[in-house]
Amino acid sequence: MKFNPWFAALALLAAAPFASAKTCSVAIEGNDQMQFNLKEIKIDAGCTQVEVTLSHAGKFPAAAMGHNWVLAKSEDLQAIVNAGATAGLPNNYLPKGDTRIIASTKIVGGGESTSVKFSTAKLTKGGDYSFFCSFPGHWALMHGKFLFG
Ligand code: CU
Repeated sequence: MKFNPWFAALALLAAAPFASAKTCSVAIEGNDQMQFNLKEIKIDAGCTQVEVTLSHAGKFPAAAMGHNWVLAKSEDLQAIVNAGATAGLPNNYLPKGDTRIIASTKIVGGGESTSVKFSTAKLTKGGDYSFFCSFPGHWALMHGKFLFG
């Protein structure tokens, strides 16, 4: 077979992004008792992407007991939750375009699941991060530490 430089270049381009990419997956559950099943999520610094899948194990609809999964610096949690409360369910109880939000899923109700995939490039090793649900009143019970490093 004749050497095809185009094919060689394409093969290199296709391989390059995957050589160092590592997606790490996390599964977390919310329930009708306003709880997550995890208090802490640890992500190895070798992970270049994180995929979080949130499942709602309860029965209540999103309007009554909706949950989402939001990641931010711990110091930003309160401000995001406050701004999110007035944003309403159509905006997943999150302020639109808020750059303090590192990653977030939509709000889901009982029996539903959702996921979000994000790059760890924005995270600092050993930084103080929290995950939480931004549905009004939920964060107090539904939050945990997100450790990267
Ligand atoms: Cu919730």
